[in-house]
Amino acid sequence: MARIVAGVATSHVPAIGVAIDQGKTAEPYWQPVFAGYEKSKQWLAHLKPDVAIVVYNDHATAFSLEVIPTFALGCAAEFAPADEGWGRRQVPVVKGHPELAWHMAQSLVLDEFDITIVNRMEVDHGLTVPLSLLFGQPAEWPCPVIPLCVNVVQYPPPTGNRCLNLGHAVRRAVESFGRDLRVVVFGTGGMSHQLQGERAGLINPAFDKRFLDLLVHDPRAAAAIPHVEYLREAGSEGIELVMWLVMRGALDDAVTERYRHYHVPASNTAVGHLVLENILASEHTK
Ligand code: DHB
Ligand code: FE
Repeated sequence: MARIVAGVATSHVPAIGVAIDQGKTAEPYWQPVFAGYEKSKQWLAHLKPDVAIVVYNDHATAFSLEVIPTFALGCAAEFAPADEGWGRRQVPVVKGHPELAWHMAQSLVLDEFDITIVNRMEVDHGLTVPLSLLFGQPAEWPCPVIPLCVNVVQYPPPTGNRCLNLGHAVRRAVESFGRDLRVVVFGTGGMSHQLQGERAGLINPAFDKRFLDLLVHDPRAAAAIPHVEYLREAGSEGIELVMWLVMRGALDDAVTERYRHYHVPASNTAVGHLVLENILASEHTK
């Protein structure tokens, strides 16, 4: 059977993608941001997952205010990187895993998570920047990717609790797939940031650090954080953190924290990053 072996959480700041693409990662501003991903990149290269499920949000690139799915699952064979205003990133096309994705669609819907099935979708920095941070700059991405897109742009986004429960359902979906696959789940976005309005530039390391600890050790408490607390404490875009809860819900209750990185700021955002392993799986990857 397929199984989820690990979870990765990371911010998905677009300027990080630009820094990678333009060869600026060693510059003094960027060096400490990227240094925190070196060990995780090596860990992932060693782990060689068969599939990555990437939980991310579209930033009005593939979807607009005309259609706003709360949860959308990419079932296509490939997903083109989007042009977000300064040209397409020169990163490989994202290859999907239609067989597992359609199985997940069936399992999730029959499990009463009525996700939207998407057969054509461009993917923006929310998905491509985490791939670049963890996989570097390969000619092809090293494994197929299933995009799981969450609305956190237009009110009302799903609750943290709903996202944690979706993670549980994702796990049931993966574990009921008949083929042996080792799957990694990415949760992207966050941490604290606010891009617009009077509080633009808000960053709250105390909130972020508490969230990191809760996510690892007490995911149900993290899932109980209400929208208004994200808004007040982590800024209007801090709500992206609910997507980390999907990743967390797909793992065991008790996990091994393998890597953690936190750096302020990158662009307008507090960058946070975690690598979590299911304890049984971590025995195998030592
Ligand atoms: C920034 C961060 C984001 O998560 C995003 O989607 C867009 C911009 C930023 O920090 O600039
Ligand atoms: Fe974002």
